[in-house]
Amino acid sequence: MTHARDNFIAWLKNAHAMEEQAITMLTAQSRRIESYPDLKARLEAHLAETQGQAERLKGLLDRLSGGASTLKHVAAKLAATAQGVGGMLTSDEVVKGSMSSYAFEHMEIATYRVLIAAADELGETEAKAVFEDILQQEIAMADWLGSNLDDITRVFLMRDERDLQAKR
Ligand SMILES: [Fe+2]
Repeated sequence: MTHARDNFIAWLKNAHAMEEQAITMLTAQSRRIESYPDLKARLEAHLAETQGQAERLKGLLDRLSGGASTLKHVAAKLAATAQGVGGMLTSDEVVKGSMSSYAFEHMEIATYRVLIAAADELGETEAKAVFEDILQQEIAMADWLGSNLDDITRVFLMRDERDLQAKR
């Protein structure tokens, strides 16, 4: 099972880099939002969860592979910063940001489903339990965004129409 283990560790590293990217994006987004208090609160709550997820993944990596790749983290953070800045230049950033978050959460869901299957194959029960916990948090966030995109869009359109601050 050497190859399986190599794949597993690589996916685990990717997941950790992904959560580091999520922390950067959620921090930038939640700080900027002013006119959408429910969205701001949900992003802040998920930011706290995501910090916990990154720590748990780091713990697994330290135990299973002797440390994560630093280079990859730097690259992920730069990509996230670029994405954040890109989103801020738009006049509809709250809508664009919500769409990005919805897509990102689904990427995370896919990542943890893959990791759960791999951990199960390898008999890594502790890791599997961690991924299952995290998966539930990602599903909850994705569901919240899924059921709030309608409201966010309508409030944005209404505020924009009345020349109230709409973009964030
Ligand atoms: Fe997430």
